[in-house]
Amino acid sequence: MCGIVGYVGSRESTPILIEGLHRLEYRGYDSAGLAVARRGRLRVTKTAGCVQDLRDRLGKNTTGTVGLAHTRWATHGEPSDLNAHPHVDPGGRIAVVHNGVLENAEPLRKKLIDDGVQLASDTDTEILAHLIAATVDAGGASLEDAVRAVLQRVEGTYGLLVLDARNPRELVVARNGSPIVLGIGDGEMFATSDMAALVRHTNRMVHLDDGELATISADAYRTSTMQADPTDKVPAAVDLADEDYQLNGFPDFMRKEIHDQTRAGHRALRGRLDERFATARLDGLGLDARELRAVRRVKFLGCGSAYYAGQLGANLVEELARLPADAEPASEFRYRNPVIEEGTLYVAVSQSGETLDTLAAVQELKRKGGQVVGLVNAVGSAIARECGSGVFLHAGPEVSVASTKAVTNMSLSFALLALLLGRVRDLSMAHGRRLVAALAAIPDRITDVLAAEEQAIAAAERYAGTEHMFFVGRVRGWPVAREGAQKLKEISYVHAEAYEAAELKHGPLALIDHTMPSVVIVPDDELLAKNIGTIEQIRARNGPVIAITNADLPEGLAETVIRLPRGEPELDPILFTVPLQLFAYHLATALGRNVDKPRNLAKSVTVE
Ligand code: F6R
Repeated sequence: MCGIVGYVGSRESTPILIEGLHRLEYRGYDSAGLAVARRGRLRVTKTAGCVQDLRDRLGKNTTGTVGLAHTRWATHGEPSDLNAHPHVDPGGRIAVVHNGVLENAEPLRKKLIDDGVQLASDTDTEILAHLIAATVDAGGASLEDAVRAVLQRVEGTYGLLVLDARNPRELVVARNGSPIVLGIGDGEMFATSDMAALVRHTNRMVHLDDGELATISADAYRTSTMQADPTDKVPAAVDLADEDYQLNGFPDFMRKEIHDQTRAGHRALRGRLDERFATARLDGLGLDARELRAVRRVKFLGCGSAYYAGQLGANLVEELARLPADAEPASEFRYRNPVIEEGTLYVAVSQSGETLDTLAAVQELKRKGGQVVGLVNAVGSAIARECGSGVFLHAGPEVSVASTKAVTNMSLSFALLALLLGRVRDLSMAHGRRLVAALAAIPDRITDVLAAEEQAIAAAERYAGTEHMFFVGRVRGWPVAREGAQKLKEISYVHAEAYEAAELKHGPLALIDHTMPSVVIVPDDELLAKNIGTIEQIRARNGPVIAITNADLPEGLAETVIRLPRGEPELDPILFTVPLQLFAYHLATALGRNVDKPRNLAKSVTVE
């Protein structure tokens, strides 16, 4: 969602904050702002628009060695100059940047207005600036104590930074449900919602936990609980590469990340395939063979693409381990009153590791004694830490809002999990060997798919004028179809719906005519004839068909065919997602869309 960065040290803070915001812009991009403190005064600049607009607005005197900055994805109040962060009290003393949502903002706002306070914005964050300023102005309280006292009156989520112009040697940081890390430099300190902002400055990080506060100054940091009990936090070195945040000749991050999938896939599999015993090694799960055999059911929980990937994972577990398995949106699971069964292994799936709905589902599971592991990309993230054990995806950072390489690595990791669960049950050594070899080959097969990109380009150009599109798949192809529709709609704004192939005839077929193209997933498996039948049904209603296939289809069956290499049928769905990413990407760019920053969306959804 929104991005936060703060600095205190001896260098000029504005360039550091602006560079940090540029790196965080993918998290939210409807407005941006920063505040620095100098000679007891705040200098605040903010604007609706992007970080470049903010940079263009900065005055020459926006200088100081302490400051905080924010890039916003609107929750409370429309994107505007006034609603942009930082928010400041009327006395111009306290500046606050905040990610998250205050649930009791309305009564607090009403109380301030009743007390005669004039609020300048529609945001919940401004309330914090007023309340903190009133507490420090009342005297006696340090900034940290004032922030603590105010946060005790607040319900909701926050990751926030607070600056007091009269004490320009420190920043106060707090976290509850919205990520914040401290970056430990040499004679300087940082705080951010996303380590990407610090990649040029330090790789030594301290992750704050929910309910924790910190005060940072140039040379020191101290962390404590809401009850003011000190917490001893030790910095950890984090693997961050500047290269992951550079375009390196690609026109945008989505294309770069799609093309990074071979390398990312190799990383997901490295050290995890055991040829000798024809199985997978996932030591991070912390489950021995007896515990793996005790698993009776697997349930995948994730949101958006992570949920669709989870459906693919459930199919793999069912097929390879012969265990009942399903996937559910974590956003639904957390609000139901789910029956938590003994013997069920819950798998929380997330690229960012910060998605609030998935995190809340994990917390609910833990409260009820469920066994949950994480399948997460971001090391050190809230979901990874909350789960305590699991599988890291090793996709590397994703900057583009649309998830690509992380989704592929999720599927590869599900295949490893399914293989492992299968091999402690009925999956034979011979079958295991076949799967190990096929899995090991997938990253290089991705290279082959990417090398045939012109097929996706031609299809995208052909259908770029269409307003609606169906994505159709059956069993193994169904989660692939859902992910294909998701990719297309989110980055091109073309209306895309996914249907199970056999469901078409129960209603959606009524929509098929020459204006409604269908992308049909046609794996070369035992359901090939059925899928060919589906295509014939669509063609009989004059519907154009784009077949994504690794089978030899009858000549002229589909108007457009995107061909893929053959692997093992159980694992082929993993590869089928890649041409759909390319199709969505090229269709969106043909329409002139900003693929990295689609409208209304943000990477890492840390609000409800
Ligand atoms: C789609 C997309 C989203 C995310 C979803 C979950 O391309 O990126 O649907 O998959 O918001 O995010 P994570 O995986 O970070 O929990």
